[in-house]
Amino acid sequence: SNSSSAEAPVLEAQGGGKTISKEVTILYGSQTGNAQGLAENAASKLEGNGFQVTISSMSDFKVNNLKKIENLLIAVSTHGEGDPPDNTLSFHEYLHGRRAPSLEGLHYSVLALGDSSYEFFCETGKQFDKRLEELGGTRLFPRMDCDLDYDEPASEWLEGVISSLSEGQVGSAAAVPAANASVGEQTSYSRTNPFKAEVLENINLNGRGSNKETHHLELSLEGSGLTFEPGDSLGIYPKNDSDLVDMLLMELDWDPEETVKVNKQGELRQLRESLISDFEITVLTKSLIEQAAQLSGNEDLKELLKPGNEERLKEYREGRDLLDFVRDFGSWGESAQEFVSILRKMPARLYSIASSLSAYPDEVHLTIGAVRYESHGRERKGVCSILCADRLQPGDVLPIYIQHNQNFKQPKNPDTPIIMVGPGTGIAPFRSFIQDREESEAKGKTWLFFGDQHFVTDFLYQTEWQKWLKTGVLTKMDVAFSRDTDEKVYVQDRMREQSEELYEWLQKGAAVYICGDEKNMAHDVHNTLIEIIEKEGNMSHADAQAYLEDMQQNKRYQRDVY
Ligand code: 2AM
Repeated sequence: SNSSSAEAPVLEAQGGGKTISKEVTILYGSQTGNAQGLAENAASKLEGNGFQVTISSMSDFKVNNLKKIENLLIAVSTHGEGDPPDNTLSFHEYLHGRRAPSLEGLHYSVLALGDSSYEFFCETGKQFDKRLEELGGTRLFPRMDCDLDYDEPASEWLEGVISSLSEGQVGSAAAVPAANASVGEQTSYSRTNPFKAEVLENINLNGRGSNKETHHLELSLEGSGLTFEPGDSLGIYPKNDSDLVDMLLMELDWDPEETVKVNKQGELRQLRESLISDFEITVLTKSLIEQAAQLSGNEDLKELLKPGNEERLKEYREGRDLLDFVRDFGSWGESAQEFVSILRKMPARLYSIASSLSAYPDEVHLTIGAVRYESHGRERKGVCSILCADRLQPGDVLPIYIQHNQNFKQPKNPDTPIIMVGPGTGIAPFRSFIQDREESEAKGKTWLFFGDQHFVTDFLYQTEWQKWLKTGVLTKMDVAFSRDTDEKVYVQDRMREQSEELYEWLQKGAAVYICGDEKNMAHDVHNTLIEIIEKEGNMSHADAQAYLEDMQQNKRYQRDVY
């Protein structure tokens, strides 16, 4: 027997001779909550199958317990350019470091989430999978890499894991139908069963002459039964621009009114309608190009996919969409059905919620920045943001769902002070925080850093912040308008100017929240925080880093960045 724990109930394997414990530990690492949701679902399915499940976020997991685990399931997403999500960092580092233990006897399987339009697709999941093997673990079931449309592969993975655990077939790759694969009846609205929310208001927050267009959207949740907390996000299923779809159809030979199957359930829709609502047409993934090449046999495409041409392929994909692709390389497939069969399902867009249910019952507010840019000689439009900016009217409906986000939550203790850094649309969750605190009469001090281009046109929700400063729900506010002066000023400059007081807040236990642009802003604000701690705390750089890491570990430093 390979069972090391005397207490653990074990299942006798049928025929194989090996035994597998009925205890399963699930660890998740999630940025937006998808991996967490899948982990929780796996936990309840496993419990339904008689397993004893321990589930935890990687950041809450005590690494000393790793050696005691016999069956480990990991559900982890990949962030940005192949980066591990914030709440996996400590576990990821531990596992890849010198102190990592030998894991002989561990059975494990990894569910990896990602977006195949990024180069390092599912990278974090791949790293965990590889590392656990290096440390001596045995795969219960092969790693499953999931694209944006993850439901099917994720349940296939879970079925495989359950049957492998149930039968004790360690290392078996065969997917056997699960004992408990029946799908419960859909009783509530969710990502796979979105609620159609009515638009109540849609207002451009920026003044005339601004470079920006930021829409404040109010949606009704009436009758949905949906609830959320400050820090949660809203998923929206948008529609593609019909002009873009019509241009695409002009390049194709298919009849726009021909019906196609739009999903595995066999739902039918006319080609034009389905290109508007069911499929992604604005992103070129490598896998789409590969499948198109296979269907069309196009020589130029085959050339582009040859080893050695990776850089060229990557450069081609950047800033181009399906219309460019069809114009450059022609169409593929024998039928409209075959044409759409290689397209990705329209993914939902996530937005940080900008209101609180206690202040606006049955409503949800969003702050959405319009994305427009030019590339390869054509104006490009963000699918969801431009739908909101250009076409959405009060009375229209949008398919939506709530995405709970445990990685961006106010302190449990309402007396804990909070520091909020949210330039641009990053302001959204802080409007929700403050509304919530106003209703709950939370006593902790609050400090907001906001920035945007111009004071006159871009001070999002200005009158609300000023009202909250007056009533005291907001203790302090510092703003940085980057293009009102000769020299740019950013939120981190304001933080630096007040480093002494900011450090005092930290020493008194304040929690720090950053929301908004990841690549530039969040990165620079992070470094500024370290700089401030280093200076005001008279610490070495390494100690200041450790101070912030410790805050992160204790959920006193949380980020919602994109
Ligand atoms: P800019 O566009 O004038 O450079 C919201 O978009 C605000 O964030 C704008 O004022 C923008 O300034 C600013 N911003 C841009 N890059 C930033 C960075 N690296 N750190 C902080 N703020 C930044």
